[in-house]
Amino acid sequence: MRPIGDDVAMGRERDEALEGLRDEARGDEALDGRRDDAVDGLRDEAGRDETGGDETAAGDASDLLVALRRDAGDPMRRQLAAELRAAIRAGRLRTGVRLPASRALAAQLGVSRGVVTDAYEQLGAEGWLAARRGAGTVVAAGPEGAEPAGGPPPARRRVRADFTPTAPDVAQFPRRLWARAVAHAAETAPDSALDYGDGHGSAALREALAAYLGRVRGTAAAPGAIVVCAGYHQAIVLLCALLARRGTRRIAFEDPSLPDHWETAARAGLEPIAVPVDEGGLRVDALAATDADAVVVTPSHQYPTGAVMGPERRHALLAWARAGGRLVVEDDYEAEFRYDRRALGALQGLDPAHVAYAGTTAKTLAPGLRLGWVLAPAGLAPALAAEKLAADHGSPALDQLALAHLIETGELDRHLRRVRRTYAERRAHLVAALTAAIPDGRVEGAAAGVHLVLALPHALDAGRLDAALEAEGVVARTVDAQRRRPAGDPRTRLVLGYGRIPAAGIDAAVAALARALRAARG
Ligand SMILES: Cc1ncc(COP(=O)(O)O)c(C=O)c1O
Repeated sequence: MRPIGDDVAMGRERDEALEGLRDEARGDEALDGRRDDAVDGLRDEAGRDETGGDETAAGDASDLLVALRRDAGDPMRRQLAAELRAAIRAGRLRTGVRLPASRALAAQLGVSRGVVTDAYEQLGAEGWLAARRGAGTVVAAGPEGAEPAGGPPPARRRVRADFTPTAPDVAQFPRRLWARAVAHAAETAPDSALDYGDGHGSAALREALAAYLGRVRGTAAAPGAIVVCAGYHQAIVLLCALLARRGTRRIAFEDPSLPDHWETAARAGLEPIAVPVDEGGLRVDALAATDADAVVVTPSHQYPTGAVMGPERRHALLAWARAGGRLVVEDDYEAEFRYDRRALGALQGLDPAHVAYAGTTAKTLAPGLRLGWVLAPAGLAPALAAEKLAADHGSPALDQLALAHLIETGELDRHLRRVRRTYAERRAHLVAALTAAIPDGRVEGAAAGVHLVLALPHALDAGRLDAALEAEGVVARTVDAQRRRPAGDPRTRLVLGYGRIPAAGIDAAVAALARALRAARG
């Protein structure tokens, strides 16, 4: 057992006081009250020290799951001490957990307060419990050598340049705006908005999204065709489950693309099919040569190549969908960040009957919000809402209302204008730094989003490249690492995200990357 290393002077004073009382009170039940007052009195003092004389923190924790047997021959104090000891040893009562005040626990268990104070004292003397300033009696030590399940956390890698391509800059999250929007939602939401929903999600958010996405992305969907979900990830989970249920067998994915989404489809029982991508995005001619019943595409900014699908290809893709009554899933994950290309709306607006459009707040606000939406073809929407209902009974109501408020008040637009400027500056800075430090590289796919691709004129050995990046503390992945099938072109392409690198850190990050690339070439 670990010693109680950090007991404060207050704890020692308490121990001395208790020790004195213990000597006086040996075997004398009548003294229970005096001792109890001393224990809780010390606790009260400790509480006041931190809480400025308010209620002691200890008073807040009043429930504790212990069972005492009145018919057992063992005295209650011993039973209680044994129960607490066993709970601490087994990890049910974890280090730092606050125990109820003796009066509250005695009332809960229907025993005299002295039973509880005795048990606490006994475990205090053994080192399992301690009195903490402002926290009353807390669990002081767990079982020796106990490690969290899964073992110790892995050693942290030293990171000098984090080019993770899928991450936005979470420091840009508009905390104040969001806090105000949540407060507004909590104050103004009708009771009905806080009840169980129907699987579609908040009506207010769906109204707001239908109008907002129609305006900025050219989508065409009634609020009744929208299902709010936990980010894009849940959108694809629900869509795959629904397609599998309806008899779809094969679903095509861009190759390269995010491996997680492939795995999601496979988990739903669908067979994922790889379709190559070129500088115009998904190759629809190659798609047409497969027997896929559905396809997932990122036409606004292909992940990871950054290609933008032009109008001709879009029309060819929709013709493929119409010809076979097939479904196109449009992953519009970062379309709000568009820089120097002409605006291209969402595919969904061109053919709402054949496109399920999925959007997310992962890039515009923060991935941790886990908020996204699907604009589903009318025939699919009710079944998709039923999938959502079955999955988790709906996304958190107040977050949905907060987002609706940000959209309706124009705050989301203003926030996006600010963040777009920030990312545009970073992107320009990154392109300039790459051009200067790695002059034989070519920047591709930088028209939108928060990542671009650096195409090298040569092929690097993947193992050497990984080792060199690691040695320089650079986090970056190659396009090839996200492919299912080898590409015809062996030249190395690196996917570089700029969400996690502030402008001031770009030159140093690129310098580290350039060193790693030189080392990888040998
Ligand atoms: C291709 C792609 N789709 C979707 C997302 C967003 O996923 P989610 O909303 O589940 O966080 C990302 C995030 O980086 C992405 O890279």
